[in-house]
Amino acid sequence: MENRERIIVLGGDGFCGWPTSLRLSSEGYDVVIVDNLSRRKIDVELGCESLTPIKPLERRLRRWEELTGRHIDYRALNIADDYEALEQLIQEVRPKAIVHFAEQRAAPYSMKSPRHKRYTVDNNINGTHNVLCAIVESGLDVHLVHLGTMGVYGYGTAGMSIPEGYLTVKVDIDGDDREIEIPYPPHPGSIYHMTKTLDALLFYYYNKNDDIRITDLHQGVVWGTNTEETLMHADLINRFDWEGDYGTVLNRFLVQAAVGHPLTIYGSGGQTRAFIHIRDTVRCISLAIKHPPAKKQRVKIFNQATETHRVRDLADLVARLTGAEVRYYVNPRNEAWDNELVIHNEQFLDLGLNPITLSDGLLQEVIEIASRYADRVDQSKIIADSRWRADIPLDREGTAARREPVAA
Ligand SMILES: NC(=O)c1ccc[n+]([C@@H]2O[C@H](COP(=O)([O-])OP(=O)(O)OC[C@H]3O[C@@H](n4cnc5c(N)ncnc54)[C@H](O)[C@@H]3O)[C@@H](O)[C@H]2O)c1
Repeated sequence: MENRERIIVLGGDGFCGWPTSLRLSSEGYDVVIVDNLSRRKIDVELGCESLTPIKPLERRLRRWEELTGRHIDYRALNIADDYEALEQLIQEVRPKAIVHFAEQRAAPYSMKSPRHKRYTVDNNINGTHNVLCAIVESGLDVHLVHLGTMGVYGYGTAGMSIPEGYLTVKVDIDGDDREIEIPYPPHPGSIYHMTKTLDALLFYYYNKNDDIRITDLHQGVVWGTNTEETLMHADLINRFDWEGDYGTVLNRFLVQAAVGHPLTIYGSGGQTRAFIHIRDTVRCISLAIKHPPAKKQRVKIFNQATETHRVRDLADLVARLTGAEVRYYVNPRNEAWDNELVIHNEQFLDLGLNPITLSDGLLQEVIEIASRYADRVDQSKIIADSRWRADIPLDREGTAARREPVAA
């Protein structure tokens, strides 16, 4: 038996974690997926399901092994709750790297109610802390690769190109102007984003105190669904979220167009966000694993995003391609009416990433998938019923017509 390098993928049943696990397995790593299937349970809670008919994890893994001869191990484990089992697993597997996707990742879901706020904080912060603590206790030199978000920088206009994690500032030290680098000031826009900024503090501490090698990937909004590996068989198909809480904006618009629902712009549509295709997500993670920070190097931060777009420009693009109507709704979020966003992402480009952009044919591929599975969409779940504050009206009809935000 070959002695291959081992990787633990926390959250390996999810939208990003599943195609990443397959990619790493096909690259020759021995992969162990850890997942408590909480995301599938949230589908049941919300009364909807992935647009694509995803198969049970055991079936996915069996099919992958039949097709490729590669075994992926699976452990059902709640990393936020079951510290001892997590520590034991790390001791047993002795991984080169742990990729950490296992968090509650929807901002609207995190704002639904006190229960959802508390669940998101408990799950995300305890999970991340347990992983760090268990790596230290294992005594092993494990590289932790974490999926963070571009949202940690905030979605106001920064007035500069957003650096990759660290900001150079001039300070007056005893009358002398000096330049120093500081972590970019956190500016979370939801409870979910707040957990990611708190994760960053945990990374800072464990890196400083215990010399853990950590890479934090500040990822943009992911679009698309398939990768080379998930396309190998219908049993390997990836998750595709489309409803109001978990659907990411471009995928949501494409599904709305496919079912004849107006494209739902919340607020002015002047919000600018950073984007990445799921195929680039898996490439970036593979690159991050191959280029760990040196021992004692500070937390390495990449902006894992390839382009930025204004929400209303995306809606116009989808409307042009599909003939869909564009409609404006009261924004349930408490956020800037519009913003500019310019980002640095040279680190991945320097490592050889050749980004997929919206202009590529992949948009057409997503439109085709959205149309193929349109009958799985329950239109009553398209509008988010989560609101950032109780005084923001719920707008199910789209009467906002670009008026100023209620919660400004
Ligand atoms: N999807 C995006 O557009 C996007 C954008 C930026 C950042 N991210 C980040 O990437 C990561 C993965 O996102 P995703 O879209 O794949 O989310 P997802 O919800 O599809 O996947 C997360 C997986 O983690 C599992 N999980 C959650 N809590 C767990 C726990 N306590 N123990 C074990 N398993 C647990 C879930 O069951 C799920 O399978 C998240 O941390 C998210 O913040 C995603």
